[in-house]
Amino acid sequence: MREHGEHGAGGYTGGGAGVTRRHVLGIGGALGLLAATGLTTSAALARRPAITGAELRSEVPLPPPFQVPLPLPAVLKPVATSGGVDRYEITQREVSAEILPGIRTPLWTYEGSFPGPTIESRRGRPVTVRHRNELPVPTVVHLHGGRTPAASDGYPTDLVLPGGWPKESHRHGHGMRDPRAVVSELTRDYTFPLDQRPALLWYHDHRMDFTAPAIWRGLAGLHVVRDDAEDALGLPAGPRELPLMIADRAFAADGGLAYPSLDPTLRARPGVREEYFAGVLGDVILVNGAPWPVHEVDAARHRLRVLNASNARHYELEAVTDDGRSLDLVQIGADQGLLEAPVTHRVLPIAPAERHDLIIDFAGVPIGGRVRIVNRLGSGRTRDVMAFLVARGAADDSRVPRTLSTDLPFWRREDAVRVRDLAFRAGRTHSGRGWLIDGLPFDPARADVTTRLGDVEVWRLVADLHHPVHLHLVGFRVLSRGGSPPLPHDAGLKDTVSLRPGESVEIITRFDGYRGRYLFHCHNAEHEDMGMMANLEIV
Ligand code: C2O
Ligand code: CU
Ligand code: CU
Repeated sequence: MREHGEHGAGGYTGGGAGVTRRHVLGIGGALGLLAATGLTTSAALARRPAITGAELRSEVPLPPPFQVPLPLPAVLKPVATSGGVDRYEITQREVSAEILPGIRTPLWTYEGSFPGPTIESRRGRPVTVRHRNELPVPTVVHLHGGRTPAASDGYPTDLVLPGGWPKESHRHGHGMRDPRAVVSELTRDYTFPLDQRPALLWYHDHRMDFTAPAIWRGLAGLHVVRDDAEDALGLPAGPRELPLMIADRAFAADGGLAYPSLDPTLRARPGVREEYFAGVLGDVILVNGAPWPVHEVDAARHRLRVLNASNARHYELEAVTDDGRSLDLVQIGADQGLLEAPVTHRVLPIAPAERHDLIIDFAGVPIGGRVRIVNRLGSGRTRDVMAFLVARGAADDSRVPRTLSTDLPFWRREDAVRVRDLAFRAGRTHSGRGWLIDGLPFDPARADVTTRLGDVEVWRLVADLHHPVHLHLVGFRVLSRGGSPPLPHDAGLKDTVSLRPGESVEIITRFDGYRGRYLFHCHNAEHEDMGMMANLEIV
């Protein structure tokens, strides 16, 4: 990473030749990589890959689309609510579930289900979750999008060991030890102050070197934060507010989830087979754990809270009626909560770990008609995502106010005391090929970015291929994309931004909240496991 000195000391010019040269270097590096992976530069230019990753083929018969009803994850009940804190307990355990009709699939779950149970919480009211690990390997829980003190943020070496796991022998993939790790046996209490804007968060595994296969096996759930101001807006609610966790998977001949791990026990050797180095894609699209589901709705406005929980698959969502019309997707919120004002899309990209809060109005659809949610980046079976069946007419007193929120943070470039350049690219590591940030694979012992609590910084991110870049602790704004103003779906407060091949994106944020050791990383989960993660020390 290149760090330009303090603002005003000549390091940050806010534009001009220096910026252009760096951008050219960045893209040149990306093309260099493409050439090294077997494409010539001109071929790489001609076909910037639409997809980063390789698709696994299922070995069982797949059901037709839009037959299985959409499941809604159960809302978890607190075990106690005294003292101003809601206390929850989640056991991580293996179960066998019927995801594809008539087929049993072993899963790793939070509390027996995939997705895990949803936690419903209020802004500013702390939540404590006691996780108990009954899985065969260590785990780590991270609340994605949470403004969480470092001790509960799920640092990848802060392992919760299962019973009987040799305490001394847990070495990480590259044989590295982390003296700062806080390792617990069997259980760990995670405390979330939730002093943050209302938003759809999600919790998932974050174990060093093994996050991707752990999420793939089922370790992901939703966590909603609400407040009175949002409740008062009159948005569609109750059964007309639907969480949609989209994730692709593939199924082996025995019904289990297929995944190309080098070590299928996930005990010792991290990584995936060479063909899947760029990311693992499945050929089955699950929504809330069901394949291509269907959901009956009233002919009224609905609020869809969409999470892309896929390891590597990107989507471009479109809502298409039987007669080929596409319905407006009215975006009201981003990763970190409500936008200032709604933004209307016809097609809406969503990268791994991003969330979109959408209003879709089924009022104009004939009763009995169907609205398919499709992925324009998919092909064959992966083009379909799910469908809504408009079952009945109904009154609709919901509203979509023209002003949604007035408390969004806004930072000007001039507020930034520092500008950093960070390159997300493939490269060589001592153990082979990996995914690197500024040429380096993740090392818990190295402070990659050190910043002061309260500082505003601009980060210029550049990518070789698709890299959804995520920062822990803070939300940020997208300042520019490819040297141009941000795209419509970059609006609002984000915690994950999707970089496309050869693209550069500038973000701005204030490092507010808590001091301590945090992370930023690519949320292509395979890239994350293969090095594309770095430390963010807030001092
Ligand atoms: Cu959703 Cu560090 O992760
Ligand atoms: Cu996160
Ligand atoms: Cu990546």
